[in-house]
Amino acid sequence: MKKVRKAVFPVAGLGTRFLPATKAIPKEMLTVVDRPVIQYVVDEAREAGIEHFIFVTGRNKAVIEDHFDIQFELNHTLAQRGKDDQLAKLQRLQPLPGQTSFTRQQEPLGLGHAVWCARELVGDEPFALLLPDMIMQSEKSCMKEMVELYDNTGGNIIAVQECDPAEAHKYGIVGRGEETHNGFRITSMVEKPKQGTAPSNLFINGRYILQPEIFAILESQERGAGNEIQLTDGMLRLEQDQRFFGYHYRGRTFDCGSPEGFVEANVAFALARHDLSAKMAGAIEELLVDMKPAPLQKTG
Ligand code: UTP
Repeated sequence: MKKVRKAVFPVAGLGTRFLPATKAIPKEMLTVVDRPVIQYVVDEAREAGIEHFIFVTGRNKAVIEDHFDIQFELNHTLAQRGKDDQLAKLQRLQPLPGQTSFTRQQEPLGLGHAVWCARELVGDEPFALLLPDMIMQSEKSCMKEMVELYDNTGGNIIAVQECDPAEAHKYGIVGRGEETHNGFRITSMVEKPKQGTAPSNLFINGRYILQPEIFAILESQERGAGNEIQLTDGMLRLEQDQRFFGYHYRGRTFDCGSPEGFVEANVAFALARHDLSAKMAGAIEELLVDMKPAPLQKTG
């Protein structure tokens, strides 16, 4: 069985939910505390043992490529000024030469199409797919656990987590079959099920390990919901021939493609930082006190 060595990051979306912030800046470069969103996702992949990082970019996204490049002048200046901690931090996060590849999705035709654009760079091997909007906060890295499951089961792996059953119609939902290792067999998949028809409340949260056969399927995939080429439609076809397993992720996920998820992520990651948490907790408490309505006056 081939190891999962490569990860694909589709970063060609327009980010319309986050306008006007995303008019000139890619949403993946907005910062959560002091790192761009994309850095969290790349770090998660690296922690899972991924060796090659493939970015599917679009117009106005060149700054993502710059972010993962070495900035010689900056490194030199930091060294000269004795800012060794900052320099070490940059070097720790820096991909090694040849570890990154970039390809363009010339038109944003949908997530399925973006994944298909990576076919030549992935080649004939299983790959991890991480949606960079979604950043995770948990003790155990989501993708690392998925790779562990994959090493036991093979096939395709999808990370899922629980949602309020009343909200299931908003998501891609999977049916839960028998338990296996740290996961379970997926019995069905449905994109945005009609209310009351979802097979479970486990929604697909933006992390996948897929077999390369998905590329041939996506090549002939017709446009689906939103007039876009949908990855879920492709996976439904792949499911007819191949096994799918679910990894039940139990940490937090923040949808940084929406302003509310992004702000929540900033608060959560700041509170988790030893150098910031006390100050942040105090500031949040103060803000909340100011927000509370004045207590009702007793009458009589
Ligand atoms: P989203 O639908 O969340 O991203 O796609 P979007 O289209 O940028 O967002 P809004 O709705 O306009 O605010 C999920 C992921 O798929 C990528 C996005 O960049 C995001 O990471 N994507 C989506 C592509 O790379 N290409 C596409 O054509 C569509």
